[in-house]
Amino acid sequence: MDHNKQSRQVRLEQLGAYPFERLKSLFAGRAVNPELNPIDAGAGEPRLPLPSFVATTLAEQLGGFSKYPSTVGGLPLRQAIACWLERRFDLQHVDPLTQVLSANGTREALFAIAHALINPEADKKPYVLMPNPMYQIYLGAAYTAGAEPLFLPCTAETGFAPDLNAVPEDVWSNTALVYVCSPSNPTGWIADAAYFEQLLALADKHDFYIVSDECYSEIYWQDRPVGLLEVAESLGRDGFSRCLVMNSLSKRSALPGMRSGLIAGDAELIARFAKMRSYTGPATPLPLQAVAAAAWSDETHVEQHLDVYRQSLKAFFDVYGTDDVNIPAGSFFVWLPVPDEEAFAVAAYEQQSVTILPGSYLSADDDNGVNPGSGYIRAALVDGPEKAAELAGRLKVVRL
Ligand SMILES: Cc1ncc(COP(=O)(O)O)c(C=O)c1O
Repeated sequence: MDHNKQSRQVRLEQLGAYPFERLKSLFAGRAVNPELNPIDAGAGEPRLPLPSFVATTLAEQLGGFSKYPSTVGGLPLRQAIACWLERRFDLQHVDPLTQVLSANGTREALFAIAHALINPEADKKPYVLMPNPMYQIYLGAAYTAGAEPLFLPCTAETGFAPDLNAVPEDVWSNTALVYVCSPSNPTGWIADAAYFEQLLALADKHDFYIVSDECYSEIYWQDRPVGLLEVAESLGRDGFSRCLVMNSLSKRSALPGMRSGLIAGDAELIARFAKMRSYTGPATPLPLQAVAAAAWSDETHVEQHLDVYRQSLKAFFDVYGTDDVNIPAGSFFVWLPVPDEEAFAVAAYEQQSVTILPGSYLSADDDNGVNPGSGYIRAALVDGPEKAAELAGRLKVVRL
């Protein structure tokens, strides 16, 4: 076997099965309790009514399916995204032509970006840093891009923050890219301005890029999350240098099936990514671009969704209680300590017809074999307050 082929295969083999595949295997041959209606709190899939503009906009724009869309996204969509970023993050100016791209869901973009920006062998910078637990795409991106993922443990001891102060100097100097996730899936932690400031200072000092996954920025319990671009601008940095953010209509607008998101930031990085995408070709169909532009331009539905998520969280903890529990600052996930996460997930499924994810499926073992997701489960509050209360009641009576 030639060397390249071999190393490509080895890279893929470094990845375990995706969390939902593992869950399927865990539940294989097991049955839910026939007396209880199933509750699926496993996937982070918002289940809210379609915003009203979706059907009308789509109907008006159907003719667009007859045309090839450009990969970067049409100007109306990129303008709508730029305006949203300016409004939401109080930015002076975002240039739709050079600082914004359309994504077909952020999942593909979060994966592909590592391939566009880093070259571990040539740059001699092997590390991609990421939170642990993490959205698994960061891990897949790092491995397949030939980098070495380096995990920042997010534990009760760190307040679920990826602790920048725990990273040794020689790691920073060998770091090509850092993924941040704020609000965080699965822990609900939110980065504050000081966190981003410290990361930006480190990026300048050690010459790396920051990719900030802000998909849950519109789902928060109290303080509205700050974004990387606004912190960069507040520091007087030139043109968001070294920074890219990703955001998504999947969570904000409850449109996960539309597969639409944004990439924005440093024009030089955007140009590099656009070039790669001109070959890989993840173009957003024109009718969906029109719906996406409408979604970025409307806040009413987002405020309605936020209200439902807040009610759901309250309903959940009113029943579940708050002793020894981390109340998430953002996202629609609860991250709950349990004695044994896999045994608990199985028991919840069999006894209470509830699907949740074992925390260890969203985390990686560190060099000492410690997995910071062990001893936790993740449940998504995506079905409204009544179901959230029902879910809490069922989880409370699970017996191991
Ligand atoms: C942290 C995080 N980032 C990105 C995504 C991707 O979302 P999408 O591809 O639907 O935009 C998800 C989806 O669950 C997520 O949890």
